Amino acid sequence: GAPVIADISALGEGQRLVFEWRGQPIWVVRRSAAVLKALPTLNDQLRDPDSQNPDQQPQYAANAGRSLKPEISVLVGLCTHLGCAPEMKAEIRPEPFDPNWKGGYFCPCHKSKFDMAGRVYEGVPAPTNLVVPPHHYENDTTLVIG
Ligand code: FES
Repeated sequence: GAPVIADISALGEGQRLVFEWRGQPIWVVRRSAAVLKALPTLNDQLRDPDSQNPDQQPQYAANAGRSLKPEISVLVGLCTHLGCAPEMKAEIRPEPFDPNWKGGYFCPCHKSKFDMAGRVYEGVPAPTNLVVPPHHYENDTTLVIG
């Protein structure tokens, strides 16, 4: 399919815009500094913290934030277990979700958990990190997906 031109000028901190590419929901999320700071503290709880599985992201997103720009995350919004739609819980908040939650995505179907880089936690059914689709920036507010 054709690339999708995504205007992200309205994307505020902690917010998500959803686009559609090849029939899949594409999430574009602007992460806060606090969320970014928390990412490396999660590494020992994750299955593939360093994005070593080359099927889950382009090489340019195999970094700490799994992103081209540190603050902006671009992900296919489908659980890598059986394809349900994970819920975004972007805030770092103590209750009621989980006192240790650092922000991320929770799949209601079989309780898989992912962090705000789409990295999967250990001990859940999803086998891999969420997919980062191919993308690039035309300018600061224009993202090209595909
Ligand atoms: Fe997400 Fe099964 S589809 S945990």
